[in-house]
Amino acid sequence: MTSRRTKIVATLGPASSSPEVLEKMILAGLDVARLNFSHGAPDEHRTRAQLVRDIAARHGRFVALLGDLQGPKIRIAKFTNKRIELAEGDSFRFSVTHPRDAGTQEVVGIDYPDLVKDCSVGDELLLDDGRVVMRVDNATADELHCTVLIGGPLSDNKGINRRGGGLTAPALTAKDKADIKLAAEMNLDYLAVSFPRDAADMELARRLRDEAGSSAWLIAKIERAEAVADDEALDGLIRASDGVMVARGDLGVEIGDAELVGIQKKIILHARRNNKVVITATQMMESMIQSPMPTRAEVSDVANAVLDYTDAVMLSAESAAGEYPVEAIKAMARVCVGAEKHPTSIKSGHRLGQHFARSDESTALAAMYTANHFPGVKAIISLTESGYTPLIMSRIRSSVPIFAFSPYRETQARVAMFRGVQTVPFDPASLPADKVSQAAVDELLKRDIVSIGDWVILTKGDSYHGTGGTNTMKILRVGDSLI
Ligand code: G6P
Ligand code: MG
Repeated sequence: MTSRRTKIVATLGPASSSPEVLEKMILAGLDVARLNFSHGAPDEHRTRAQLVRDIAARHGRFVALLGDLQGPKIRIAKFTNKRIELAEGDSFRFSVTHPRDAGTQEVVGIDYPDLVKDCSVGDELLLDDGRVVMRVDNATADELHCTVLIGGPLSDNKGINRRGGGLTAPALTAKDKADIKLAAEMNLDYLAVSFPRDAADMELARRLRDEAGSSAWLIAKIERAEAVADDEALDGLIRASDGVMVARGDLGVEIGDAELVGIQKKIILHARRNNKVVITATQMMESMIQSPMPTRAEVSDVANAVLDYTDAVMLSAESAAGEYPVEAIKAMARVCVGAEKHPTSIKSGHRLGQHFARSDESTALAAMYTANHFPGVKAIISLTESGYTPLIMSRIRSSVPIFAFSPYRETQARVAMFRGVQTVPFDPASLPADKVSQAAVDELLKRDIVSIGDWVILTKGDSYHGTGGTNTMKILRVGDSLI
C-alpha cells in the first residue's frame, strides 16, 4: 500500500488503452480512471473500463471509474478547407443559417442558435480556449458580426465561450442523457456534469442518474463564471453535488486566468467545508504531452493544489493522448508525496469553533482530533457502508492513514477518490460481534501497516448495516486482546 494521500485521476484515450500501458499506469498509482464522453464511441469506453477493472483486480488494487459528460460546449461548425487563419482587425461572422460544412474566411455556421440571442454588442467571444478573441459589433436575427481582437488559426468544431460567461445552454444535452444510461450500464463510480449553472442542473442530473439505475456519485464541474460569481452560487452548486472539479480550462476562459488561482483555492476550501470531494484539473502537467519531465512551474502547480488540500489532481491530454502517460502519473505521485510532507498538509484547524450537524460527523471528527493529537496512533479504521464516515474524516488534514473497511465493491472503488483514504474489503456482519475489532486490526497487521504496540482508532455503529449509523470510536492497542 502507498503512503501517498492525494489521489490521481487520469483520462484514458488513445495513448492509454492498451493493456500494457494501463497496467503500468495502475502500478504507477492511478486511483481514478476518467472516461471522457466528449471523445470515443461507447464500445471504446466499455473496453477500457473492463480492462481497468480486470487489471486492478489482478493486482489487488482499487481503481474508481469516472465518466465525464460532454455537456453543452458550444462549438462552431466546419470550414470548407478545415481551417482558416484570422488576423487582428479582420471581420468575421457566426451564422445560424450558413451551411454547416462550408465555413469561409468571413463566416462559419454555429450549432447553437441561442448564441445570437445571448450575445450583445461589445461582448467578447473566446474561441479555442481563448486562442482567438473577437468582439461583437452587431447582432442580427441570425448572425453575429465581429471584429478579430486576437488572431490565429481557427479550425473545425472549435469551442466558443463568452468572456464573463452567461450563455444559456442547458447543462444536459440529448447526448449526455444517453451517456448517463451508458454510465449506469457500465456501473461507473463517478459521473461528472459539465457546465452546470446551479443546483437545479445537478438535481436534474441526479434524477436522470436514478432513473437509469446508477449509484455513481455526481461531480459538478465548476467551469462557468456564474458558478463562482458569489459564495451563495458556489455553495448551492457544491451542496447539490457529491463532489466538484475545478475545471480550469473553461473556467479560466470565462473568468480570465488572473482570477483562476484564487478561485481554485476558494472552490477547494468550500468543497471541503461542505464535506464534498474535490478534483483539481486541466493542464497540470501539460508539457508532459511531449516531454518525459514536468516543468518546475507544473511541479509547483500540482504541489500547490496538494497544499490547498485537494482530494485529487487530474491528468487530461497528458495521459489520454500524450507520449508519456506512465511518466506523468509517476511525476504526479512523486510531487504529491513531496508536498504532503509540508506542515500545511498535516496540521488541521480542526473546525475549531464550528458546530457539527450529525452524530456520525461528530464521531468522525472526534476520531481525527484524537489521531492528530495522540502520537501513538498509526491508522484509523472506519467501518463504512457508503464511504460517508471516512469521507468526513478525510476533510480534516492529517498524516494518519484512514482505512475504509467495507464489503461493497462500489464503496471500495468510490473511496479511491478521497484524500488519505484507502480501502480494505471487510464484512463485519460475517463475524461474531466480539471478534470484529480484532479481525479488523489483524487486517492491518497482515499488511504491515501497524505493529505490536501501535494504537489504532476504529469507528462503527451499533448495527453492521445502514449508512449514517456511526456512533462509536474505539482506541485500540495492537497486540492486546481486542473485543
Ligand atoms: C458499516 C458499519 C456500521 C456503520 C456504517 C457506517 O455498515 O458496520 O456499524 O454504522 O458502516 O456507514 P457510513 O456509510 O455512514 O459510513
Ligand atoms: Mg470543460
